[in-house]
Amino acid sequence: MQSVARNFFTLAVIYSLCGMALGLHMAISQDHGQMPTHAHTMAAGWLMSAVFAFFYHLFPAVGQKTIAVVHFWLTAISGIGLMIGLFVMLAGNPAIEPVLAIASISFYAAMLLFAFIALPAVWKKA
Ligand code: HEM
Ligand code: HEM
Repeated sequence: MQSVARNFFTLAVIYSLCGMALGLHMAISQDHGQMPTHAHTMAAGWLMSAVFAFFYHLFPAVGQKTIAVVHFWLTAISGIGLMIGLFVMLAGNPAIEPVLAIASISFYAAMLLFAFIALPAVWKKA
């Protein structure tokens, strides 16, 4: 696996371990107050990062580009900000909301960047 693919896969596994630990905590404590944090860590964290990892594994030449490295770091930083911000907010700290807003918009920007990276690669004639 080349480095962007490997980084995304590692990030995915870290999200899955944190998200499932939170799921277990919610189930054991019978307090589902962090459900949106768990849901996003699993779906937007574990599943999306794994999809990105396999995309760059399937298109290794695209993963060599600097823009792919930018995509990884923008996704990782905004995503981690989103999950931590959500956790802090749902723990009863609404003052964190501006951080959450910036992280959400950056996470969307990272997805937009992925559209520019991935769509030309998949539509390219062999
Ligand atoms: C150790 C394993 C897991 C535990 C203990 C666990 C626990 C939970 C709990 C307690 C809820 C809240 C349910 C509710 O309040 O209605 C929940 C929701 C959710 N979980 Fe998990 N979960 C686990 C693994 C996963 C995995 C592997 C995924 C996805 C890949 C996932 C995705 C979700 C999603 C998307 C929701 C929100 C569902 C909704 O919108 O109603 N969970 N989980
Ligand atoms: C820009 C990033 C995103 C923002 C701002 C966002 C925002 C939200 C909001 C406001 C809700 C409703 C929460 C509630 O009613 O408690 C929600 C629910 C949900 N979102 Fe997202 N979302 C984002 C990205 C994603 C992505 C990329 C995925 C999946 C790959 C996802 C999966 C879900 C799921 C499964 C739920 C239902 C579970 C729940 O109620 O917490 N979201 N999201």
